[in-house]
Parts: sequence; C-alpha cells; structure tokens
Amino acid sequence: DKGGWSSFMAKEVSEEPEAVANTIRGRVHDGLVQIPELDGLDELFTGIDRVIVIACGTAAYAGMVGKYALEQWARVPVDVELAHEFRYRDPVIGPRTLVVSISQSGETMDTLMAVKYAREAGAKTLSICNTQGATIPRESDAIVYTHAGPEVAVASTKAFVAQITALYLLALHVGRVRGALSAEAIAEQVAQLEAVPEKIARVLASEQEHIEQFAHWMADTRSVIFLGRHVGYPIALEGALKLKEISYIHAEGFAAGELKHGPIALIEPGQPVFVMVPSPTSSPLLHAKVVSNIQEIRARGARIIAVAEEGDAAVLPFADEVLRIPLAEPLFEPLLAVVPLHIFAMGLATAKGLDVDQPRNLAKSVTVE
Ligand code: F6R
Repeated sequence: DKGGWSSFMAKEVSEEPEAVANTIRGRVHDGLVQIPELDGLDELFTGIDRVIVIACGTAAYAGMVGKYALEQWARVPVDVELAHEFRYRDPVIGPRTLVVSISQSGETMDTLMAVKYAREAGAKTLSICNTQGATIPRESDAIVYTHAGPEVAVASTKAFVAQITALYLLALHVGRVRGALSAEAIAEQVAQLEAVPEKIARVLASEQEHIEQFAHWMADTRSVIFLGRHVGYPIALEGALKLKEISYIHAEGFAAGELKHGPIALIEPGQPVFVMVPSPTSSPLLHAKVVSNIQEIRARGARIIAVAEEGDAAVLPFADEVLRIPLAEPLFEPLLAVVPLHIFAMGLATAKGLDVDQPRNLAKSVTVE
C-alpha cells in the first residue's frame, strides 16, 4: 500500500526520518548504547584485530560511511569490500577478523556466499539486516537488525539511512566494549544521532519541492557527476548509483581530490556536477578544500549543484543551485546529505515518465551470483 504516495519510493523516502528513529529505538539507555542482540557477545569485539565489511551496491556505500565511525570511535581497522569480489582473492582472514555483512533483504546471494566463506575460514560474522529471519542473519554469529520497515521499491533509500544508523550504534557499542570511548564521548555522539530524524524531516519539508522542480528542468541531462570527500565520497557514489538505477542517466561519483588525477578532463561547459560540501563550522579544513575543488571545475564551465549546510555562504558565488542541509558534526552529515540526492533521482525519473519503483533489468533482491 502506497499510503497515498505516487510511488513506493516516494513513500519510503518520506519514511527516512522514522527509519533512523526506529533503528535507534530500544538501543539507547541513559545516553549509552545498549544493543540487546549483542548481550553476552563481547568476545566478538574484544578478540579481533580487524573488521571487514562486505555488502553490495547501496549497502556497500553504507559500509563505506560506517568505516569512518568504526575507525574513529572503536579504533579498529576496517576494510570495506564488495561481497562478490571478496572470496575470489584468497583474503587474509581468521579468528581475529570480524566480518560485518550489510544487506537490506538478507538474501543477496553474493553477500550470503561471502559470509559463508568467512565463517568457513574461521572469522566471526555479524549481520546488519532489515528482514527478520532472512538467510544471511541466520548464517551469522550475531545480528543487528535495521528497523526501516519493509522496503518495496527496487532502489534502496530508507534502508540506507537505517544501515548507517545501525553501523553507528555498532561502532559506539564496540568502542565501549574495547575501551576506546568514555561514557561521556558516547553520550555526545548518541545525542547527535538522536537529532538526525528531525533534521532529515527538515530537509524533506524545506527542499523536496525545490529539488523536484529543479530535477524537472534537468530531464534532458545526459550525464551527471557527483563529488564528495571523506564521508561525502560514499554519498557521491550513492547519488550516482540512484540516478543510473532509476533514471537511466549516466552518472559517476568521484572523490573530489581525485578529480585532478583524470576525471577533470570530463568537465565541459554545462556539465552538471553535484558537490557534497562539508560543513564550514564542523569541518573547516575539508570545507576549504571542497570549495577550491568547486572553483576549479566552475572555471571550466561546470554547472554546480552544491549540497551545503544552512548558512554556508562561501558556496554561493560558485553554485548554480544550493540544496540545504541542517548543521551537523561531520559523521552525521551523510545521513542528511543523501536525502536531497534520493529526492533528485526520484524527481528526475518521474520527470522522464519512468516507473521509479520498478526500473528495467533490476530485481529487489539479487538471488543469483
Ligand atoms: C540500489 C540497490 C542495490 C542494493 C544491493 C544490495 O538502490 O537497491 O544496490 O543495495 O543489491 O541489496 P541488499 O541490501 O538487499 O543485499
């Protein structure tokens, strides 16, 4: 039931605030993270020296965002790998490796096979999954469910923000168990996380109409570039994937710093480029770098669409469009910055008259390898 929305995807994007809130619910007590599913499983986190995150597509981008939190808060080295690449290269894993899989459906064959491979090699396994009782969590030593609710549209949206939320809760949990974080530090991050749903709701309320209109004007666009740095990089990849997936427009995401190593040759007058601009308040250094990246491509004629913090005036002289997100600490920006990109992909596909819920050639759950 679309509940009055024009598509499941529209409904599911509108549910992004609840997807985050429901994933947090019941897992925070007195400012501390307590994940009941992980009770008695401290050994999974103390007896390891590295984490490997495996997933596909959008779930892998959530994993890339989660890496920053796990490394920063839990001080454990993290690699993120595409599940379908993982077991074909004789990975160095064993009992001191925790393999964290991420899957909305819990049935993705590539991810399932990678989890089985990891278990057979003696690694510990933890599944982040949105579907109760699915195969991947059943094959894992531990489970942290995302509570995004059923996701029907093929393109993953609310599950993505729920996956990042679950990874952040996990990172705070592991940080405590490994003694890397004080109770005070955890409480500070928890407060930031708890503020996210309301901030996403603000983006939806203030930007949705503007972005849809703007997507409409862009319906003839043939190629779109997305740039980001730090946690903005996986968001750029996610923005590009969603656009390819539902609007059939060629799109690529790049790490902004990589531009000068090749991709800048693609920039010609009129080329639309979305730029995830870090907060000038909470990441001034990164902000300055990204503004200089914007100037470089702007000088070559790019049309800049900046996803920037409310009140960031530095981008105004260089941006053709500014999509605003509320102020947040760096690690929490991805949960906000992705929202305009989801709305944009949906708006553009709708403007082209496409079925946003059922893109061609794709199935919701990929059960073949
Ligand atoms: C993108 C998308 C896919 C899935 C990927 C993994 O919008 O939906 O890239 O994210 O196929 O699916 P799950 O999370 O079910 O393993």
